[in-house]
Amino acid sequence: MRSPLQGLCWLWLLTLVHALATTSGSRESQLRIGKGVNVFVRYGYLSISMRVIPTNESSETERWLFREPTRNIYKNISNLADIHEDNTPGIFHGDFHMEFCENRRQLLQAYFRDFTIERLDKPWEALSGGWFPHTAAKKLGVNASFILGDYSYVLVRVVRFRETGKLAVPIPNNQPLEPEILERVKDLQVGNITETLYFLDQIGSHYINSYTTGNSLYQVFVYNRKNYKMIKDRIKAKGLNGLSKLDLYNYFAPWFAAHLGQIRSASGNATVERWAKRKLQYEYYVVKYVTLLKLHGNSTLLRSLDSLLGNDAILSLDLKALNLFPENPEKQQWFNEVLDNNLKLWEINMPLSNQS
Ligand SMILES: *[C@@H]1O[C@H](CO)[C@@H](O)[C@H](O)[C@H]1NC(C)=O
Ligand SMILES: *[C@@H]1O[C@H](CO)[C@@H](O)[C@H](O)[C@H]1NC(C)=O
Ligand SMILES: *[C@@H]1O[C@H](CO)[C@@H](O)[C@H](O)[C@H]1NC(C)=O
Ligand SMILES: *[C@@H]1O[C@H](CO)[C@@H](O)[C@H](O)[C@H]1NC(C)=O
Ligand SMILES: *[C@@H]1O[C@H](CO)[C@@H](O)[C@H](O)[C@H]1NC(C)=O
Ligand SMILES: *[C@@H]1O[C@H](CO)[C@@H](O)[C@H](O)[C@H]1NC(C)=O
Repeated sequence: MRSPLQGLCWLWLLTLVHALATTSGSRESQLRIGKGVNVFVRYGYLSISMRVIPTNESSETERWLFREPTRNIYKNISNLADIHEDNTPGIFHGDFHMEFCENRRQLLQAYFRDFTIERLDKPWEALSGGWFPHTAAKKLGVNASFILGDYSYVLVRVVRFRETGKLAVPIPNNQPLEPEILERVKDLQVGNITETLYFLDQIGSHYINSYTTGNSLYQVFVYNRKNYKMIKDRIKAKGLNGLSKLDLYNYFAPWFAAHLGQIRSASGNATVERWAKRKLQYEYYVVKYVTLLKLHGNSTLLRSLDSLLGNDAILSLDLKALNLFPENPEKQQWFNEVLDNNLKLWEINMPLSNQS
């Protein structure tokens, strides 16, 4: 049964998609600081157009990182951008971390921890809210029965940063706009909903404030509640480095976890995943398994991984809400209201993520 709110929402979706189809010629797709994007077009499915987790397109020939349509908003914004590459040889440019997740929802939230969309409380839903559980399971590398059941998770991840882009200074209020944008900004009328929705669709809702690209390896460890609580308490009390190697391996072993996920790379790169399968094998008497923990504190392995993890995935992204009316607070407030209402509608209406 649908609420009237939902009906409205789907109607908007259709309108927006239709409008986009007729104007796509004026857009291009680039991960560039200051560019405008409309997060409503693919809300819940943004991972289709941003390489953040493996896709199922093994046959694709074209390499891409970001194919969400973008729009130039400001003139000369690239002059304000600070782009930095991390390639000094001999060290590992990244980090090794673990996140404790009570349930599936927290697992997705953890995976997308470094993605923020201003004015949105649950940005991870914009990326993954549309996934069915079996899709989520595949992408996260775990057996579907362990995504649906009553389990807790530890996400272990090794991230290799390559490129960081950000604004060197906040966008000045008097930063010149592209002529077309300037005209729209002038014309926008407080109270005209149709026009404002059209504005969001054509110009965007947000702009790219910062990003990091590179690649990562991750593995999800699945636990029953009791064992989960036990390792969480132990690691909280002692810290990861306070545990003996034996304890650490024990907690992440197949006899303690309910299930060990496969090691996957954020970009789905098969070469890197094969490397992990070969190099991260662990043998304990007769039990043989693959674990990302082998990388913990092993600088030799991390160094080899450093060159293997390329610039194939988006690791973090910060989208800020467009702030195009600094001289006109009334217009800005109106724009924010329409934006907030839209975001709330989408949050309420993501059907899959609302299932617990
Ligand atoms: C990709 O999709 C095909 C066909 O839909 C399916 O058979 C295959 O298992 C999928 N592979 C992955 C890795 O998801
Ligand atoms: C944009 O930058 C270019 C070169 O950096 C400069 O010549 C031009 O005047 C700038 N335009 C504006 C509008 O600031
Ligand atoms: C998933 O787990 C079930 C139960 O442990 C097992 O029977 C099945 O073979 C597993 N499937 C895959 C694809 O690993
Ligand atoms: C709203 O804006 C549109 C497009 O600019 C215009 O055609 C329409 O007349 C406006 N509606 C009102 C009530 O002003
Ligand atoms: C690091 O890993 C390599 C390869 O598995 C292994 O030979 C070496 O002993 C490990 N080093 C440490 C400090 O654990
Ligand atoms: C996968 O990663 C390897 C090693 O970094 C690289 O050589 C290869 O080009 C990547 N493949 C794709 C399809 O990105």
